[in-house]
Amino acid sequence: MENGSQSRIKTMSAAPKGDTTPKGTNIVWHDASVDRQGRASQRGHRSAILWFTGLSGSGKSTLANAVNAALFEQGIATYVLDGDNIRHGLCKDLGFSDADREENIRRIGEVAKLFLDAGIIVLTAFVSPFRADRDKARGLVEAGDFIEIHCAADLSICEERDTKGLYAKARAGEIKDFTGISSPYEAPESPELNINTGNQDLESCVNVVIKQLQDQQLIPAPHPPVS
Ligand code: ADX
Repeated sequence: MENGSQSRIKTMSAAPKGDTTPKGTNIVWHDASVDRQGRASQRGHRSAILWFTGLSGSGKSTLANAVNAALFEQGIATYVLDGDNIRHGLCKDLGFSDADREENIRRIGEVAKLFLDAGIIVLTAFVSPFRADRDKARGLVEAGDFIEIHCAADLSICEERDTKGLYAKARAGEIKDFTGISSPYEAPESPELNINTGNQDLESCVNVVIKQLQDQQLIPAPHPPVS
């Protein structure tokens, strides 16, 4: 194999991080033939997990999808994992007890890690109300791979928006364990980005996220304006 292809195709993939002990026995890790660096060189951008967290109605899905569209337009490989959508498939067996939310976020952390390995910028939009669960997801990957974005719209604004009518139902006692009403939301203490999705317009929120990706050199910097 000549040098050029050797630098693109590696025999080692990132070793698994965190507690990876399988329940089954006689299971042996198999290294992948193509690694993240190879994918990044081929695609011209690096991968990352953009972890959007916030109350229901705070604008996580809206912002994640708007960032997704902006990146897609630049030819960047992206994918959105959205709480309501994933709960129709991979996590359809889970409800909203603390334990089910923990399992929901554990699965999403693992799936996001696979996307990271696949060289894709993955955007996750989950309430993910518990700090410990988010920190576990962060702990699955290397520093710099996980960008926590707090969609910090006030509860009063989310409730006023009530896009799905769920706050009204929760206040009426028709939904139990509803985040912000009858179940806690633990705001991130030091997220990479804290965006007031309650008052800030969507375009400027998108720009904040894109700038972060450029500053971390995950995606190419914009071309200087031609004079
Ligand atoms: S998480 O807490 O486990 O991260 P997830 O993001 O998957 O939640 O799902 C939240 C979405 O489910 C909300 O946007 C809302 O539409 C809906 N939902 C239904 N019941 C609840 C509830 N009890 N608490 C929060 N969200 C709920």
